[in-house]
Amino acid sequence: MNTHIIKTDKITFESNPVLIANDINKLVPGLLSKKEISYIKTQQKNDPLKTFFHFNKLEYHVFVCLNSQPVEDIEYKSIEEWRKLGSKLASVVKAEKINTFCIGVGNIKDTEEYAFLEGFLLGSYSYNKYKPNPKEKIVKLSIQLAGSSLNKASIDCLNIIHESVTIARNWVNEPGSNLTPAAFCKDVSQMFTSVPSVKLDILSPKKIATLKMAGIEAVSKGSENPPAFIVLEYLPKDVKKNKPYVLVGKGIFFDTGGINLKPSAGLADMKCDMSGAAAVAAAIYIIAKMKLKVNVVGLIPATENRPGRLAYLPGDILTMMNGVTVEIKNTDAEGRLILADALCYASRYNPVLTMTIATLTGSAHATFGYHAIAGMQNNAEMPFSILKSASFNVHERIAELPMWNDYEKMIESGVAEIQNVGGKFAGAITAAKFLQKFTDYPFIHLDIAGPAYTESANSYIPAGGTGVGVRLFFEFFNTISKMAK
Ligand code: BES
Ligand code: ZN
Ligand code: ZN
Repeated sequence: MNTHIIKTDKITFESNPVLIANDINKLVPGLLSKKEISYIKTQQKNDPLKTFFHFNKLEYHVFVCLNSQPVEDIEYKSIEEWRKLGSKLASVVKAEKINTFCIGVGNIKDTEEYAFLEGFLLGSYSYNKYKPNPKEKIVKLSIQLAGSSLNKASIDCLNIIHESVTIARNWVNEPGSNLTPAAFCKDVSQMFTSVPSVKLDILSPKKIATLKMAGIEAVSKGSENPPAFIVLEYLPKDVKKNKPYVLVGKGIFFDTGGINLKPSAGLADMKCDMSGAAAVAAAIYIIAKMKLKVNVVGLIPATENRPGRLAYLPGDILTMMNGVTVEIKNTDAEGRLILADALCYASRYNPVLTMTIATLTGSAHATFGYHAIAGMQNNAEMPFSILKSASFNVHERIAELPMWNDYEKMIESGVAEIQNVGGKFAGAITAAKFLQKFTDYPFIHLDIAGPAYTESANSYIPAGGTGVGVRLFFEFFNTISKMAK
């Protein structure tokens, strides 16, 4: 979708006015009749939670969005309410196929206006690539802002966030047979041709073998589609001396479970098993486009987990890049194997912090449902607290699980150093403990198995791929970048 946001100083009825404010008395004047104002007042008296009003005038539409939530509150509810209001506008605009409107900004703060627009843009998404006659479709959006105090950087930022979250969602929603590791590599190369500050390297299966990336090699054996290992380096000149951050995203382009084949229920959703990969590529894209003052490297091990003729087997023992031996107890615990390779590879950067993001365990999904990222950290308390507060700012909230050493015993193997499953309990934690074996730097692990892919739409979060992690990483690095100034 093509979006164009410009500032203006006058609102006309033809441009479909959208009036936003904290209070009915603070709306941009002259666009509502006395009757309409008193209608809103009566409605709000009967139901104070009613915040969105739509007047269909046949030749044009008038929208009123009122949000009087208190600003300071611990769950950042007011900002999230503004995003939700933005998404209400998006759903009407999609259904009515309106593509031009003018937002008249009342007495609200920059952050509130920004959140409204963000909710609107993210809510305007729909995945209809394969629908012949989509009910909801916006091809082009032209948004005028009247009375806005957002600066150009904020507007650019909104556009880039919209673009990159859309790309991440599209990747996740694309059927598994279409988005192979090779197809993803092609998309990533295309996407980054317009971003010269990012160096892209795609390691071939041969190079993967030379580097002894045993996890990727084993997992990819059951598929005819070759694996890849993607390296995205954003090391801007003026911050070159600082140690980089490394982001690692799980790129399983379809997870059948392998020889330990998954049951049918929910299997189609396993196209989402590359959501971590999508989040890393899309986040690096925004970070570079916004020219943040921070060094970030993205690593994406990309393959499929299929039960093909030569598929790796339960009982196999792998010798990983760092010499650790791993007994395969279950071929469905494949994500941690390919992430382990990337974590070993990350060591060469001597990173200040490495973060993994992965749809890693059913356990995280079962614990938190769709509403939280399971976050764990080792030796990274400070950045974890910054990340956690970023997560509440963007409403991609992290809930912390412990990484105590007591859990390490659960992944001890009888025949190798460790095994790739930890038993019945604490699955999200034992997976993280497995990953920790391949780190020699501060480490944060984010398990997004719950929030990466949803059954039904919820305000600006669509059904299917959500793009979780993209805004979170951007918010985190934006904070780090500002701290560096
Ligand atoms: N990709 C799955 C995890 C997953 C589950 C993602 C639900 C999204 C939604 C992962 O590879 C997996 O199969 N994990 C197993 C591990 C087990 C065999 C130790 C799981 O969690 O059941
Ligand atoms: Zn699996
Ligand atoms: Zn998986």
